[in-house]
Amino acid sequence: MNIILLGPPGAGKGTQARKLVDERNMVQLSTGDMLRAARTSGTEMGKTVAGVMDRGELVTDEIVIGLIREQLESDNAGGGYIFDGFPRTLAQADALGRLLVDMGENLDCVIEMQVDDDALVDRITARSTCGACGEVYNDNTKPIPANEKCTNCGASDFQRRADDNEESLRTRLMAYYKQTSPLVGYYYAKGDLRSVDGLASMDDVATSIASALRQSE
Ligand code: AP5
Ligand code: MG
Repeated sequence: MNIILLGPPGAGKGTQARKLVDERNMVQLSTGDMLRAARTSGTEMGKTVAGVMDRGELVTDEIVIGLIREQLESDNAGGGYIFDGFPRTLAQADALGRLLVDMGENLDCVIEMQVDDDALVDRITARSTCGACGEVYNDNTKPIPANEKCTNCGASDFQRRADDNEESLRTRLMAYYKQTSPLVGYYYAKGDLRSVDGLASMDDVATSIASALRQSE
């Protein structure tokens, strides 16, 4: 099945996407991760988007739709796709709908992860990520192990994101409310929307998502 994880920065989209990859053999397509990879490898596109991302603004629709199109053309996701952080505008949502139709695929479910802004500041400023495998940690709720080795891959390369500061987070939240939250109504009207409480524990959020997916199967 093909699903979208929709929610503001820090809602837990990446955390839950990784669980679904492990449990359901799905493919995670995170436009944020793809853009950060382009920056790390120093491509022209990576250089173009760096400042925009660090400020917390949205990258152009053209760039992110192009990234998703490339992935859909090159991947073969037996267990389906998890769209994490895409779409983020109505134009992106329309483009995704067209891409899936062209592939003969459906969108099965859109999971809206509901959280409040205060929790997001705490989550984002406490986050770190394994640079080798992308495992997500949090100083308060999922700390880096005492031996400083990633529990998933054993590497010792923990990184903080350049946009994980209060100022960029404010801009990212505004971008979410202005440009992305209209997608809640868009997918509700199509009958695809399921909402979960993103403030619950990571395991409880996973259980709610599993139940929402069962209802859409
Ligand atoms: P992106 O990388 O997508 O960032 P984001 O949407 O701001 O979301 P985050 O990755 O910050 O949060 P998350 O929901 O994945 O939370 P996580 O699981 O890590 O985008 C970055 C930038 O790229 C954008 O600002 C934009 O510039 C650009 N971009 C990307 N896609 C784009 C698009 N489609 N169009 C235009 N521009 C685009 O969890 C956060 C923390 O909370 C972690 O520490 C985690 O351990 C913890 N946590 C998670 N769940 C729980 C829980 N249930 N309880 C307690 N703690 C939890
Ligand atoms: Mg993420």
